Amino acid sequence: MRILISGASGLLGLNLALEACGEHEVYGVVNHHKLYQPPFTVLQCDLTSDQTRRQILEQVSPHWVIHCAALADLEVCEANPPLAKKLNTDLPAKLAEDVSKGGACLLHVSTDAVFDGLRGDYTEDDQPHPLSVYAQTKLAGEQAVFAAHPDPLVVRVNFYGWSLSGKRSLAEFFFNNLQTGKETPGFHDVYFCPLLANDLAQILFRMMELNLSGLYHVVAPQPISKYEFGIQLAQAFGFDPSLIRPVSVLQAGLRAARSPNMTLSIAKLQKVFPDPLPEINAGLQRFVSLYKEGYPERLKAMNAAS
Ligand SMILES: NC(=O)c1ccc[n+]([C@@H]2O[C@H](COP(=O)([O-])OP(=O)(O)OC[C@H]3O[C@@H](n4cnc5c(N)ncnc54)[C@H](OP(=O)(O)O)[C@@H]3O)[C@@H](O)[C@H]2O)c1
Repeated sequence: MRILISGASGLLGLNLALEACGEHEVYGVVNHHKLYQPPFTVLQCDLTSDQTRRQILEQVSPHWVIHCAALADLEVCEANPPLAKKLNTDLPAKLAEDVSKGGACLLHVSTDAVFDGLRGDYTEDDQPHPLSVYAQTKLAGEQAVFAAHPDPLVVRVNFYGWSLSGKRSLAEFFFNNLQTGKETPGFHDVYFCPLLANDLAQILFRMMELNLSGLYHVVAPQPISKYEFGIQLAQAFGFDPSLIRPVSVLQAGLRAARSPNMTLSIAKLQKVFPDPLPEINAGLQRFVSLYKEGYPERLKAMNAAS
């Protein structure tokens, strides 16, 4: 399969592209962050430019487009709503329209943050209620994709993993601090269902092979607090778990409102998906294995800015 992945320098896009490499013909789109000798073809462009976006789609003629590019920093979105709208709503809308015209399939990546988190365990039928500019613009992005493409696959996800910069994900935040023996805060009042990006990538490829379309929640099968996630990560690496201090998200001074319970139900996916989704502990074990195999160093070597 020929796959075009946007956001290939980002946390999810890069891991997706690397997981896809052996099996598929992969083209990864980056914008500001160039990649040094990655094992897939890199195309550099600002996807908000209509002309370059269309040129790339014509040039690659993909079977599938996986759209990971976004403004995924909640604080930056809150400080700059027009930019958040441009990247999280307008870009997916235009891309979906172009992809539809070219006849390719589209997988659009959305977020668990579309819910207010007052209840948790949300299904695809539950009414979203986004609290932040990021979440509002991502929800509008989902709606725009459904309006512009006849049959897209839209997934709401939550993930962690090793990244190009070495500090993009929550797991790297815990790892970097714990490795140097630094005391680290962990929110005891925010719940989520994080998957390792590499595991999420494999699940998404299976969903594509199954020709699924429509809206799906794709997260780990059980909830965990961010504090407990840090504790389990510390234990998986053999770091001192007592370095993690339970704190409330309300004391963190964050500008963008956070949903306290971002847990999603994966019942819809499990009805059609052949395998159980990896448990949090299994994901963390693979995160450690990747570390031992030198995976973070491999990514670091691809960081043309370093
Ligand atoms: N991170 C999470 O915990 C999380 C949770 C739930 C859902 N999501 C969703 O998952 C997706 C991937 O998130 P992520 O955390 O992997 O993102 P990320 O690490 O912040 O990366 C964002 C990517 O988007 C690219 N990009 C931004 N503007 C662009 C433009 N104008 N043209 C071309 N590329 C552009 C960036 O390219 P350059 O860096 O090269 O400029 C980068 O590769 C997003 O849709 C996000 O909303 C993320």
